[in-house]
Amino acid sequence: MLDSLPSQVTINEVGPRDGFQNVAVFIPTGEKIAIVEQLIDAGLKNFELTSFVSPKAIPQLADAAELCRTILERHGDKINASALIPNLKGAQSAWEAGIREIACVISVSVSHNKANINRTHEESLAELAKIVDSLPGMKVRVDLATAFACPFEGWTSVDSVYDLTEKVARLGVKDIVLADTIGVATPNRVSRLSVGIRQAFPALNFGLHIHDTRGMGLANTLSGLMAGITTYETSIAGLGGCPFAPGAAGNTATEDLVNMLSGMNIATGVDLEKLIAVVGLVNQKVDAKTNSHMSQSKLYESLK
Ligand code: COA
Ligand code: ZN
Repeated sequence: MLDSLPSQVTINEVGPRDGFQNVAVFIPTGEKIAIVEQLIDAGLKNFELTSFVSPKAIPQLADAAELCRTILERHGDKINASALIPNLKGAQSAWEAGIREIACVISVSVSHNKANINRTHEESLAELAKIVDSLPGMKVRVDLATAFACPFEGWTSVDSVYDLTEKVARLGVKDIVLADTIGVATPNRVSRLSVGIRQAFPALNFGLHIHDTRGMGLANTLSGLMAGITTYETSIAGLGGCPFAPGAAGNTATEDLVNMLSGMNIATGVDLEKLIAVVGLVNQKVDAKTNSHMSQSKLYESLK
């Protein structure tokens, strides 16, 4: 049953964005950069580095431009760097900081879209159209937040995800990430949406962004793999959570995902020992609780 899984997976490390955004105490920019550089050294290639959002909404990421410029200057040739944006202003600031790929966030649930970015769907889609038109050199993907459930409205209907996907695709977007923002999905729900949406939109690429609030992160990831999805967004040390989604907790930890995939002979290009060492740096520099499995597990020489 597991023989037909993808042989390779793309991991997008979102710790510097989703992870840090939920940390109250400001992490000095140099320390954020040191963590990213150690992640690059561990073999990670794809990063969501930060968000270009209002510093009033997320004070932690007010250093977005400086962080991006420094990382791109030092490592731009080795990594694919992206940043999250909520609007045209954010997209323009990202472009000026050297970013050439953005994740434009829109929540499937209208209430969360309003709480998160103060926009209706119509306003978000109009903003997306402006971004695509005014920055033709920018690769734009869309993160569909609350694709499985909303903290205000409950379960998200599959039809409402299809409906928004269709509207986004009409604007020329090809890459879409389905996010379980509050981490309440179970494998059956992941399977249903992932299988269905890939069949309904065969020309689009879908990724999964799964929070591990209820310990379902890896089970849901496996369900996504079985549905043929090969892009996963995870966070070092399992940091993460949307400050505008009550009850949201950390992402699936990157080191836990890498451990599962390497045990299943699915290539990631990441050195697990080096990755676990980064958790040590995160624990020193970031004022947040971390509790991933692999950061607490002995690495047995005989089980490599
Ligand atoms: N970057 C920096 N500042 C921005 C900005 C951006 N992308 N977009 C708007 N602003 C500033 C405006 O300049 C304005 O500043 P001022 O008060 O000094 O004049 C202020 O924010 C309000 O602008 P407005 O367009 O009216 O925004 P809003 O109050 O409707 O808020 C967002 C909308 C999108 C800016 C805000 O909700 C936000 O940044 N949300 C981010 C949410 C997030 O990151 N969630 C977690 C990730 S999913
Ligand atoms: Zn998230």
